[in-house]
Amino acid sequence: MLEQRFSIPQDEAFRRLNDSLSFDQRLWEYDVAQSEAHARMLARQGIIPAGDSDAILAALGRVRAELSEGSFPFAAGDEDIHMAVERRVTELAPEAGGRLHTARSRNDQVVTDVAMFVRDVARSSQSRAADLASTLVGVAEAHLDWPLPGYTHLQRAQPVYLSHHLLAYAWMLLRDARRFAQVAEGVSDLPLGAGALAGVNFDTDREFVAAELGFSGVVENSIDAVSNRDSLLDYLSAASTCATHLSRLGAEIVMWSSSEFGFAQVSDAWASSSSIMPQKKNPDAAELLRGKAPRVWGHLAALQGVIHGLPLTYNKDLQEDKEHLFDAVDTLALMLVAADGMVASLSFDRARLEAAAADEMLAATDVADLLVKRGMAFRSAHGVVARLVREAVSLGCTLSELRDDRVVELSEGRLDAAALRSVLADGAWLESKVSRGGTSLASVRVQLQHVKTALAGARE
Ligand code: ARG
Repeated sequence: MLEQRFSIPQDEAFRRLNDSLSFDQRLWEYDVAQSEAHARMLARQGIIPAGDSDAILAALGRVRAELSEGSFPFAAGDEDIHMAVERRVTELAPEAGGRLHTARSRNDQVVTDVAMFVRDVARSSQSRAADLASTLVGVAEAHLDWPLPGYTHLQRAQPVYLSHHLLAYAWMLLRDARRFAQVAEGVSDLPLGAGALAGVNFDTDREFVAAELGFSGVVENSIDAVSNRDSLLDYLSAASTCATHLSRLGAEIVMWSSSEFGFAQVSDAWASSSSIMPQKKNPDAAELLRGKAPRVWGHLAALQGVIHGLPLTYNKDLQEDKEHLFDAVDTLALMLVAADGMVASLSFDRARLEAAAADEMLAATDVADLLVKRGMAFRSAHGVVARLVREAVSLGCTLSELRDDRVVELSEGRLDAAALRSVLADGAWLESKVSRGGTSLASVRVQLQHVKTALAGARE
């Protein structure tokens, strides 16, 4: 279509390198919508005759129908979706169609399509993240007072309620939802109208086109308009963080499903077996939440790499933005949907969780705090309990099995065995975490109310 400039046809390998139609046809709805708005604007401004605009709009209507039902006749020379749509409009309305590209360039066109796409996918990622947060809240509520060990360094640290642990993920997903909302809100200004880079030689009405396409303003600088890919970086950055969150959730589910932990199982709908070992039930979906995360951030790193060092304005390198974006969008959508289904399907083993959480060593901080409440400085109390723990470890017994006289001796008379045993009595170490945001049931109940309010906001 544009080859009149050259004397010999494009090399076949160059065509394959250069063409983007195979992936950018995904943008067709945006391309048709912006072409309609552009044609209307051109007629309103008297830049093309009203009759031509009508003919263009009729042709675009047909193009939309053909593309949506899969009957659009792509042609060999269609380099990208923008050329394909314009070529077909010109076939359908030969005189008028030739005027569609007045006061427009593919440079402002492509960035407009992509901005509209990012706005839509950021909204859908937002709602998927909120869905998963809501599922996590439901599972947390169903396991409100189920204790399990909380870990640091993957060593048992202090007991927590499972509800509290799961709500930590709900908060992460809520932050993700908010980040995606910000990405969508960030796409507020219309690039179209910048032309190739310098503006156009016509008195266009960019505000009209902006309003037609749901933008609240126009990009003020035509050079910035065609060079800018920030919204893609913003989406990929939010997606990367979200994928990282999902990888942590996946990793925990993998651990919890092992025989060593035995804390939880995914339902059969989210597991696979082994081709050789018939006993196996593998939590593949959880493993893939872990395994797919780097792919999402890989796209962020790759796009930063494409853009970094690029002189203004449009460079063909920028065509490489789309596949990174599209794959990240699709990968993350699948991860979020799978995480949602798998989390909802989890079944927890209360006896295993309780047994693990009843490990008396988890109460060491509580014993130290008892001494603090009796006036000892925390650092000294920490030392006393460390001595008790060392004694128990070396004797191979539990803290409550320590001899009464040794408790008194090791604590230099600051602790008696009865007081020690009463701190170690079941359950008290969770309910002792009374601080705001802590794991006591009263605090978790307050947290649940707040998370539900935040959840309602995360969908806006
Ligand atoms: N297919 C191109 C892209 O995705 C569209 C813009 C082409 N512009 C140009 N000056 N060749 O970036």
